[in-house]
Amino acid sequence: MTEFSNSAKQMRSSEIRRLMKLAADPSIISFSGGMPANSLFPVDVVDELYNSLSTELKQVALQYGPTPGYPPLLESLKKYLNSRGIPTENQQIIITTGAQQALNLVAKIFLNPGDHVITEYPSFIGALAAFKSYEATLTGIALDNDGIDLKQLEKTLDEKVSQTKLLYISPYFHNPAGIIYSKKRKEDLLKLLENRDLCLIEDDPYGELYFRNEDKELTIPMKAMGKEPVPICYIGTFAKIFGPGLRLGYLLGPTEIVEKCELAKQSMDACTSTITQVLADQYLRKGKLNPYLDKLRPVYARRAQIMLSALKKYMPSQITWTTPQGGFYVWVTMPDTMDSSAVFAETIKHGAAFVIGSAFDPNGTKNNSFRLAFSHTPEERIEEGIKIIAEAIRKVYF
Ligand SMILES: Cc1ncc(COP(=O)(O)O)c(C=O)c1O
Repeated sequence: MTEFSNSAKQMRSSEIRRLMKLAADPSIISFSGGMPANSLFPVDVVDELYNSLSTELKQVALQYGPTPGYPPLLESLKKYLNSRGIPTENQQIIITTGAQQALNLVAKIFLNPGDHVITEYPSFIGALAAFKSYEATLTGIALDNDGIDLKQLEKTLDEKVSQTKLLYISPYFHNPAGIIYSKKRKEDLLKLLENRDLCLIEDDPYGELYFRNEDKELTIPMKAMGKEPVPICYIGTFAKIFGPGLRLGYLLGPTEIVEKCELAKQSMDACTSTITQVLADQYLRKGKLNPYLDKLRPVYARRAQIMLSALKKYMPSQITWTTPQGGFYVWVTMPDTMDSSAVFAETIKHGAAFVIGSAFDPNGTKNNSFRLAFSHTPEERIEEGIKIIAEAIRKVYF
């Protein structure tokens, strides 16, 4: 057998993929997959948008498109970003096959084997996998309720001054931590990055999914906060505001970086699916996004509330958890000596599932926490699922 590349040898089947298989079993109350509920997708809107296309546009939709993206979508996306206060002048956008591809492209154009990437701990598993696939070394910096720990970050940056190429953060309704960065933490982080030589990746799939209007201001990206001390690659996606099946994401960044990403993308898939880009363009242009978000926000807010109430009701006093103001996730932390894999094994026997903490650790070891997604579990099953997990914790540890 021909030997695999060094990069492929390090690839492991993602824990999250394995656990997502469990989410498919309808008898399991699964809090594992970070996905919207099928019943929430705007299928009527898709029918309406597709049926309203001219034959000529349907033909365009089935054709290859330019690597940077379908030009009308690039235009409507710019308008959308501007409407969120995100400036697009002197910057470029590339449409990608999911935000996951944008992460992969940035990793590909910057990372040599052994280069250093700083992430949060915990961090999005897909980003960790992308960085690892280019044989980067990773350091995870702790998060608190306001964002990344700046003291720890500064120390790590100073220690690894020449090797650190990327800082990857997801400040808005974090996956998996559920928190949102405070304005002050973002400002202080930007200050800390002055005169540093690295690229900041700001990953923002959930910013639109705030539960209360007064929190909207917290979702203003660092990309929109004035002069950039380091180049900021802002990554967005239609996955949580339309549907992940579209596989449609984007990267907004300095021209030099985006042009390099275009070259890298040419050898990956040449272009992102045109048909989904045509639909997304119509979706934005015809004003379908905001009414859909108005429908989604209270649904997720209610699910989160039910989950938080159940955690309060059933969890032993030693267990803590984050209180999300938007997005999909609650991050549960047990005392250091406890192991979420042991709790998972007991939980699954009784019909519930979550994602163990080590999946979100850049080193794959820290395992006393776990992620609960409330986004795709029907309201009436959430309390029962949390009760099962709490009972499993008691059985294994108390
Ligand atoms: C933080 C974060 N970044 C990126 C992605 C990937 O998004 P996409 O489905 O657009 O590839 C996800 C998906 O769950 C995510 O949670």
